[in-house]
Amino acid sequence: MSLQPSDVFVPGRFPLEDRNIYADRGRPQDDFIKAIRRGFVPVVFGSYGVGKSSLSRYCTKTEDAHGKLVYIESTYGKSLADIFTRLLEVIGYEVTTEKTTQREWESGGETGFGLAGDILGYLKANLSGKLSRGRKKALASKRQLVVSSPTDSKVLDLCEDAGLFLMIDEAHRAGDTLRRDLSAFLKAFANRNHRQFRIAVIGTETDASRLIIRDPGIDRLLQEVPVHPISHSEARSILFDGMARLRIRVPEDLGMKIIRSGVGSPFILQYLCLEMAETAKQTRADALTQEMHAAALRAYAKAKAQRMIHQYRTAIETTGTKKYRKRILHAMARAEDDYVTMDQLVHGISRDMAEDVPSTALSGPLRELKTAKFGPILTDVEGPSGTARAYNYSAFADPAMKSIIRMIEALARPGEEIPADFQQ
Ligand SMILES: Nc1ncnc2c1ncn2[C@@H]1O[C@H](COP(=O)(O)OP(=O)(O)O)[C@@H](O)[C@H]1O
Ligand SMILES: [Mg+2]
Repeated sequence: MSLQPSDVFVPGRFPLEDRNIYADRGRPQDDFIKAIRRGFVPVVFGSYGVGKSSLSRYCTKTEDAHGKLVYIESTYGKSLADIFTRLLEVIGYEVTTEKTTQREWESGGETGFGLAGDILGYLKANLSGKLSRGRKKALASKRQLVVSSPTDSKVLDLCEDAGLFLMIDEAHRAGDTLRRDLSAFLKAFANRNHRQFRIAVIGTETDASRLIIRDPGIDRLLQEVPVHPISHSEARSILFDGMARLRIRVPEDLGMKIIRSGVGSPFILQYLCLEMAETAKQTRADALTQEMHAAALRAYAKAKAQRMIHQYRTAIETTGTKKYRKRILHAMARAEDDYVTMDQLVHGISRDMAEDVPSTALSGPLRELKTAKFGPILTDVEGPSGTARAYNYSAFADPAMKSIIRMIEALARPGEEIPADFQQ
């Protein structure tokens, strides 16, 4: 069987199978692997959709294949007890009693782990009947567990014995309780010399210190792994190597254009590639054409970006020469950081207009963009946790908007508000 376009290009899915095209991420990938080898906890962070989860999963393919990877897709609405439950179930326990609330726990007259952190409640786990003889024997002394603390050493021992890899994704969505419990858990992890048990934390933040409550007890353990939009050569490998697997030729000039339209987002590039490859296969063409690229952009706009393009159109000015709302949005989309300060906006827009724009000229339009009338397309963000709120940050309400505006900027011809390729 020859490869199909959807075997190679997998927008929205992790490119983990051999037939999927995966671009090596160089530095962050090496940093991740090195951290794991040294027993550190990689903290993978960066903007929305830059490939953090794919990279982390790619680096742990072996653990995954051996059933050692415990992947928590998101921390949203989860407690540490939920995470412990997943770990214990993989080891072979049936978790029978789940969380009690802290109140019940306290009124039970027991002193739990007030010092260590916060509410874990407690959970009770029994060895599961389904376990193999050998495993049962090995775990015999821990037939039943009662876990009541985020720093419980039994849990750590069991994870160590089983050689588990705990990967916590979307860590930025954790609630305050989980953040505190997780920090206590990591501190307990740091205080022991684990040889097998590994942990990685991933989150959509352009600032690692927002992901984990830092303290001297865990700082030495953490290894920051920043992930940036894909580079030109990474994009090149997705497009050219991917198409080569399908025996579709990419003319060099068109290739550069396609890469530019992917604006550093591996998801967008994969999406465009899949569209173009399918058209090529259907028409039995052996090379990509301009028309295929244009059609892929229209398909992307229609399927993925219509709502956001509409929101952008509503938010920008259509008349006047200053067009500050539009300039603000573009300056924000161009910024490397997801949180932008007024200073950065003043700087960016002044350069844009080749004149000094005072912050007083921008504060009105900026405020407008955070009101319902204009989306709100932007929102206020607090300063990083742990620091005084020294700045007022602004960010896109929907993190995917950044790529859409980058695409608009890359594709619009002079005089066009919305690129022709985005019009239906
Ligand atoms: N290294 C890569 N090579 C090829 N495609 C990738 C790569 N990284 C990400 N992708 C594509 O981009 C999409 C989004 O990546 P993802 O890892 O989910 O981003 P993040 O976790 O940073 O939000 C994936 O579904 C995949 O299709
Ligand atoms: Mg992710």
